[in-house]
Amino acid sequence: MKTSTKILLSILTLLLLVWFVPCIIFQIQRPQLKWNWSKIDVNKISFPKDFIWGVATAAHQVEGYNTNNQWYLWESTVDATGNPMIARGQLSGMACDHWRRYPQDIRLMKELGVTSYRFSVEWSRVEPREGVFDTLAIKHYQEECDSLIAQGITPMVTLHHFTNPIWFEKKGAFEKMENVADFVRFTEVVYLALKDRVKLWCTINEPAVYVVGGYFQGDMPPGKKDPKLAAVVLRNILEAHVQAYWKIKSLPGGDQAKVGLVKNMTQMDPYRKWHLGDWIFANLIEGVFNGTTLNFMKTGHYRFSMPTMAKLIDENPKAIGSMDFIGLNYYSHYNYKFSFNLDKAFKARLLPGEIKTDMDYASYPEGFYRAIKTVSELGIPIMITENGVADAKDDSRAQFISQYLYALSKSISEGCNVQAYYYWTLIDNFEWSLGYDMKFGLYSLDMPTQRRTMKNGSKRYQEIISEKLNPL
Ligand code: GCO
Repeated sequence: MKTSTKILLSILTLLLLVWFVPCIIFQIQRPQLKWNWSKIDVNKISFPKDFIWGVATAAHQVEGYNTNNQWYLWESTVDATGNPMIARGQLSGMACDHWRRYPQDIRLMKELGVTSYRFSVEWSRVEPREGVFDTLAIKHYQEECDSLIAQGITPMVTLHHFTNPIWFEKKGAFEKMENVADFVRFTEVVYLALKDRVKLWCTINEPAVYVVGGYFQGDMPPGKKDPKLAAVVLRNILEAHVQAYWKIKSLPGGDQAKVGLVKNMTQMDPYRKWHLGDWIFANLIEGVFNGTTLNFMKTGHYRFSMPTMAKLIDENPKAIGSMDFIGLNYYSHYNYKFSFNLDKAFKARLLPGEIKTDMDYASYPEGFYRAIKTVSELGIPIMITENGVADAKDDSRAQFISQYLYALSKSISEGCNVQAYYYWTLIDNFEWSLGYDMKFGLYSLDMPTQRRTMKNGSKRYQEIISEKLNPL
């Protein structure tokens, strides 16, 4: 063999080893499923007979006039270039006026046929000033629970869904470990007030989303872009979950309560599956967004690592066993293309051929199945605390529901212990930095008249709930 051929062969072998072999390993570890939907019968689904069907909302997005939290301030702030923080300068304002209209909204739930409602208690209403609790606000939530229960709808309460009272934000919120005690005190007050009515509790909604939005991308309050601080806040907010969990367990009836953390499980995938750079970058983001939290909850080891940006290692053995269930929120995956230009590298992309929702991500039901399989490894029950689609034209909602529920049913038939599914969301509402432009609701909202109208696509959900599906 000629020397030049030998050199060429060695280079090729080396390339194969250092480039393609890792790509193959990564693909085996995290296969990016793609199903052929034209060959799938989405009507072949079945659910356990005691399966919980629900809808989900969050206080600031639906209640209206939550003027005492950090989001309210944020909505009327402008950035350095004078642009408003919320799309087209929208404000949450009256929202769905759910604070006053919840009885009407419970009727909508009845119309849908759901048996459970996940909503959040607004901390800034319950504790408007540090250490001062508003008995009327607490009474409001007690009455809301009573009304739900009277209609046969089981309440599931989220204690923290992105909003902080202004006093808490001002003292540094979860940037400081000592502030965690404030959240635990609030948890105790709410738990004691609602414990006879509520058995299902979510502590913190999507810690990683709160941290990425508020401390990495800066599109949520407090609008910081500081990876080192992001690592600290994620650790502290997970600590808040752990302490809130054990606090509830120590209180009367706590052993009966089912308490979980809500995790958004967006997968961070490579744009090109044969590109090692794409894999390395995707795996890095997957690690901090999903891996750090799941690993901490499983082992008590906290490891947040973004080379050259942030590294934080910590430990808390009390995290082990601090979830009676995991709340899983799933919408889609993000795909990343390697680039030395970080702005480009961090840009999430759609794969060629993927169908975009109104959000900047695709419809990807296979990812829902993948996410369920991933969290199954924790070995605890799973509640799907959010899943839904932004679809202003309402021309893909029915298909979305069919395909995602097919993925869910498949995972259950393969042994995943999923006990509930909450559709996000009941009524079109305030979608954070995107304002009212994103229409996730099963009902549309005409804000001036506050009229709610069931969308056509939502009937598929109603149908699946009511159908006599073969119980597993
Ligand atoms: C989140 C929240 C919800 C959103 C929903 C749709 O994931 O940001 O839990 O408040 O409205 O996910 O984007």
